[in-house]
Amino acid sequence: MSFIGRPIWLERLHEGVTLTDYAGNEAGSKASAGDYLAELPTKIERSIIWLTVKNTALAEMLTRFQPVIASDCIVVCCQNGLGAAALARKYLPGIHVLQGIVGCNVVWNESLKQLQKTTEGEFYVEQQGELAPELKKALSAVQHKLLTLFWHKNIEAVAWAKLQLNLANSINTVVNQPVRTMLLDRGCRQVIAALMDELLAVTAARHIRLPELTRVPARYLPAVLRLPDWLFKRLASAMLHIEPTARSSIWWDLQAGRVTEIDYLNGAVAEQGAQSGIACPINKRVTDLVKSLQTSALVAVRPPLGGNTLKFQLHLE
Ligand SMILES: NC(=O)c1ccc[n+]([C@@H]2O[C@H](COP(=O)([O-])OP(=O)(O)OC[C@H]3O[C@@H](n4cnc5c(N)ncnc54)[C@H](OP(=O)(O)O)[C@@H]3O)[C@@H](O)[C@H]2O)c1
Repeated sequence: MSFIGRPIWLERLHEGVTLTDYAGNEAGSKASAGDYLAELPTKIERSIIWLTVKNTALAEMLTRFQPVIASDCIVVCCQNGLGAAALARKYLPGIHVLQGIVGCNVVWNESLKQLQKTTEGEFYVEQQGELAPELKKALSAVQHKLLTLFWHKNIEAVAWAKLQLNLANSINTVVNQPVRTMLLDRGCRQVIAALMDELLAVTAARHIRLPELTRVPARYLPAVLRLPDWLFKRLASAMLHIEPTARSSIWWDLQAGRVTEIDYLNGAVAEQGAQSGIACPINKRVTDLVKSLQTSALVAVRPPLGGNTLKFQLHLE
């Protein structure tokens, strides 16, 4: 296996990375020189390519693959949100492209040099017809004791189900609060519930049946989020088992002055809703808010926001 990435990651892989999960499992991973590359090779043949850049870097990455990739390769797009595999198919005609959905959250802990799987969730890969057994075996080799691979015939439904969970990332960003603090604020939870209601209306209109990625089925999540604080803390305590300082990747990207994945998350819900004749005003307004923060010089010094203030800003009763 070869890794292609930024020098910082190649250094980390060379030194050895520990993989951990919330259940206390641990595994080591160390790449030897020659296993990692700073640039794409001039020809890539008979390879499975796990594409793990963000949606915002995907088009550029795919353009780099165009001249070097042979038609016997398989590309697995591992981006959150909607549209990654469709984009890859457009840029790489004739290449076998599959969508993968990572159902858990993974963060790099610099002080411990650990890649930490911080939430439940497995890895789902699109099952397109019948793959040759040797290909299926080769793809399944990525499976690990810390991440189980499941084949899924309706990966679009899995992508929507994961997107429902990711809608909260924008709220964590807009209110400038850690995820746990945000979840303890009923006003924030009511906004997240409204975002989810819109997504559920779009999936219902398209007859997409969402698979269960969490203990609470997708359709009940908004009701759980709207519970009063005392009841939410009792019934949804598992949702609060989060590192108190954890923030979403949208928040981190914003702080670093990067373009966020908002267009592929809340923005995609609003866009897909419009295509199906379902208005998604809250997802649209939240997308616009995040975009305005992307161009604001004050993003690093803005104060935290309460959920009720956000509701007022979003014209949400
Ligand atoms: N992390 C999670 O928990 C998680 C879970 C499920 C799904 N996802 C999805 O997976 C995707 C990746 O997320 P992530 O959190 O792993 O993002 P990330 O931490 O930003 O990792 C992406 C890496 O790709 C690098 N990169 C971008 N363009 C490159 C290029 N042309 N050549 C070489 N390296 C390049 C980035 O470097 P630079 O930063 O220097 O550009 C970065 O190191 C996203 O769509 C995300 O939504 C993430």
